[in-house]
Amino acid sequence: MRKTFFTVTLFAALLVAAQEKPIYLNQSNTIEERVEDALSRMTLEEKVAIIHAQSKFSSPGVPKLGIPDVWMTDGPHGIRPEVLWDEWDQAKWTNDSCVAYPALTCLAATWNPELSYLYGKSIGEEARFRKKTVLLGPGVNIYRTPLNGRNFEYMGEDPLLASKMVVPYIQGVQSNGVAACVKHFALNNHEINRHNTNVIVDDRALYEIYLPAFKAAVQEGKAWAIMGAYNLYKNQHACHNQYLLNDILKKEWNFDGVVVSDWGGVHNTEEAIDNGLDMEFGSWTNGLTNGASNAYNYYYLANPYLEKLKNNETSIEILDEKVRRVLRLIFRTEMNTSRPWGSMLTDEHYQAARKIGEEGIVLLKNDGNILPIDIRKAKKIAVIGENAIKMMTVGGGSSSLKVQREVSPLDGIKSRVNDSIEVVYARGYVGDASGEYNGVITGQDLTDNRSKEELIAEAVSLASEADYVIFIGGLNKSAGQDCEDADRISLNLPYDQDELIKRLSAANKNLIVVNISGNAIAMPWVDNVPAIIQDWYLGSEAGNSLAGVLFGDVNPSGKLPFTFLKELEDYSSHKLGEYSGTRVDSIIDIEYKESIFVGYRWSDKNKKDRVLFPFGHGLSYTTFEYSRPTVNKTKIHSNDSINISVRIKNTGKLEGKEVVQLYISDKKSYLPRPVKELKGFEKVSLKPGEEKEVSFSVKKDDLCFFDDKLHEWVAEPGKFEAVIAASATDIKGRVGFELIK
Ligand code: BGC
Repeated sequence: MRKTFFTVTLFAALLVAAQEKPIYLNQSNTIEERVEDALSRMTLEEKVAIIHAQSKFSSPGVPKLGIPDVWMTDGPHGIRPEVLWDEWDQAKWTNDSCVAYPALTCLAATWNPELSYLYGKSIGEEARFRKKTVLLGPGVNIYRTPLNGRNFEYMGEDPLLASKMVVPYIQGVQSNGVAACVKHFALNNHEINRHNTNVIVDDRALYEIYLPAFKAAVQEGKAWAIMGAYNLYKNQHACHNQYLLNDILKKEWNFDGVVVSDWGGVHNTEEAIDNGLDMEFGSWTNGLTNGASNAYNYYYLANPYLEKLKNNETSIEILDEKVRRVLRLIFRTEMNTSRPWGSMLTDEHYQAARKIGEEGIVLLKNDGNILPIDIRKAKKIAVIGENAIKMMTVGGGSSSLKVQREVSPLDGIKSRVNDSIEVVYARGYVGDASGEYNGVITGQDLTDNRSKEELIAEAVSLASEADYVIFIGGLNKSAGQDCEDADRISLNLPYDQDELIKRLSAANKNLIVVNISGNAIAMPWVDNVPAIIQDWYLGSEAGNSLAGVLFGDVNPSGKLPFTFLKELEDYSSHKLGEYSGTRVDSIIDIEYKESIFVGYRWSDKNKKDRVLFPFGHGLSYTTFEYSRPTVNKTKIHSNDSINISVRIKNTGKLEGKEVVQLYISDKKSYLPRPVKELKGFEKVSLKPGEEKEVSFSVKKDDLCFFDDKLHEWVAEPGKFEAVIAASATDIKGRVGFELIK
């Protein structure tokens, strides 16, 4: 009797307690229930407050409800150092140094989705540890022109490669309860005039080339946030764009996350209300952001919006929809009590950075197998070039970092050879000696006032006495190179490096050129140099990753995520399309006249002989042999799939990895199609003598093109070919099949 009494009382007490806890705080309710409950408790002012910034990188929560602020951070290669509340200047914290991961071009060059997950998980852990709600990255704008100053932050020229690589990154970040914010949606394909370029592009190119990676990020990666781009499309800024945000992102793709503006990407209150924007950041409204204490109230989505609401000039439903999205973001992140704590600067993070770097480095050329350098045979190595010593984690714009440590290529080489070989160094050229971004200073003094001739003479003299010469040059992160807000002015290497390389090649035939960049470069000296490595901005472990490849501890397995063409005019964006390298003040139309013919889709068709290094290219220290591909049936029905298989064997002496690529070629169609398109890839690891079968499933969806008149994806019955290749130009075998109605 007594026991029953206690049970009943306890039950009643629990019931009361459960009832007392508001729905929005109760973890056992769904996020949607919690969102609706929180929304119902908010005043108009509170609603407007949470949809715009309160500082450079934060927006307020709802203090009354205990709902915390949202904190954002760049992204995408490491966690940005803290800046002042309302300034870009450093807050000068002592605990905000991070691990810098390789730039996203390098990640794409690994062609390894598992490494993308590792990348996302690791950077997400650092973001979480630093108490960030949203990581501003990754970026997936398509590589249209090699001049784009921000290509290094993106994942190359191919929509499928970018899609496959972006999804695991997002999943990795968000496994920490930190939101990924995919950027810059959409058509942000160059930097010059980024705020006033109105992109004109046909729907085919939009859907087939420029949107797929964003769509994958939303639908497969389930990104919780997306960032609008600076440019315009159909004469509306992308941050408040009816077509991109409302019609495509929210309606066609059912995106349920938050659309965040790029910093300063909002220009108009009405459009910001109606055209799909959810959160406004970085506006410089009337210049008030700088200094004025109440500047944030002047944001387009602040007082001007409140006024319109109070005057019944806009509906509360639109506001509620924005607020719902922001609350959903907060419940997925800040208010998820079971998310992990994160970690920072761990050995695992450094190892991840190193491994991604090692797997992303691309061996472009290796005549006479001059690489890897046999440490037992060489006595003296001359390392030449500014990029051998320059810290590359500082600069480039918003992705600039403050790192705990960064191993330069020269230091990586020295520590690898460990006194067994003499390593001598000469600068060779002076490029950018500054080393400062937003108050983060590398601390390196790279000033060198010697003349060009003196620098070259010193380099050539060291080169002529060495067994090997490793030239480490390329671009850097200063304005006009690989850097935000401006583009490169030429495809050629800056600072007279072409001349230097030619002189070095005359002085020593064992010349290895290492190009550090996030973009293709012209190589007028390509035939005079036996070995070329495409290195990237590799972050904290840059020198160790590179040394691993140079000395053969690592067998290179990176493949190019974009095509190298010989000259700028060979690129379709410059040959057919429009591009303006001149700064203008007013809105400028840039038409992507090349349509879908971007990257290898263009060179396959028109510029075969102008390819310097093709998309998907990368050598190994071992060799691979491909069998003839086979298909399990030659006819495919609309709801069916077929399997394309190929056997691949390691025929060399070293363990290595190869990326087997599947392209599909449509033999006849009523709209023009590329010669072939990447539809699958797999990276396989093989021991010497080992053989594996790689199999790809091909479905109707893989055969489609976007019919812009019908506004739908069409797979046209008829003949197709599956092309198995080691790069866009190294075709290993073909097999035909037919799509039946
Ligand atoms: C960049 C974004 C960045 C933001 C915040 C903008 O200038 O375009 O990519 O996330 O600044 O730093």
